[in-house]
Amino acid sequence: MKATIRLDKMLGNLGYGTRSGIKQLIKQGAVTVNGKLAKDHGMQINPNLDEVVLDGETIQYRDSVYVLLHKPAGVVSATEDHRDRTVIDLLDEDLTVLSPFPVGRLDKDTEGLLLITNDGKLSHELLSPRKHVPKTYRSLVAGAVGQADIEAFSQGVKLDDDYVTMPAQLSVLATSKGDGAASGDIEENTDEMMAAIKLVPQSAAPEPNEPLNWIELTIHEGKFHQVKRMFESVGKKVLYLRRVSMGPLRLDANLAPGEWRELTEEELESLRNYRKDGKE
Ligand code: URA
Repeated sequence: MKATIRLDKMLGNLGYGTRSGIKQLIKQGAVTVNGKLAKDHGMQINPNLDEVVLDGETIQYRDSVYVLLHKPAGVVSATEDHRDRTVIDLLDEDLTVLSPFPVGRLDKDTEGLLLITNDGKLSHELLSPRKHVPKTYRSLVAGAVGQADIEAFSQGVKLDDDYVTMPAQLSVLATSKGDGAASGDIEENTDEMMAAIKLVPQSAAPEPNEPLNWIELTIHEGKFHQVKRMFESVGKKVLYLRRVSMGPLRLDANLAPGEWRELTEEELESLRNYRKDGKE
């Protein structure tokens, strides 16, 4: 992750003018970096260490970042990795310079909502096992999911390490009997299911005629591979997984996998209020 940013980009991001306007300012000698006249508008600045002064005013680079990412499959939820691209690699350099990190993890093959921030306190609180922040997933599951599973999940199921999960809310949104056609009460759900079927890698393709389900599951904890292991515990297999919400945050339907945007003021406010309300 880069710790530096171009001087003209830094000033541009802060609203001090266009790239060419800023170039002009620098040419006119209006900017100093660590007490020395800046001559190169493209010079690299570390906003955490370097003092940038414009027309006598010390410039404070923004210090916080809150990003809502639609995580795509194939990237890892980490800040650095020797082998794979990380979720941080998807962001722009003017944000990565602020040292953001993902709040929790999604598996490499999981898509969906991932909050990325440099706010350690917020992250800690959202991940705290005492807060039970709800996380909702939509998933394509192979095997006949039914009432027995809904009841088992609502009671808690025993995972492969003997951990018994907290009560979780499962609903079946659409099903396919293995004939290739999905059906459900709401057309959008069957469309989503058909789209998810296309995303299943060949290596995980279901048996012909195996029943498939498009489900929604809300859990209130975050054990390793939790959703996959919960379905394994009842003899079913997750073929595709997408997180659609976390606490008050919802996945933005306008973001395709790999796209991101900064949180809106309303979203930030809802997160702060959520934290204040101290959901236990
Ligand atoms: N549960 C899983 O199994 N995987 C994820 O990525 C998130 C929840």
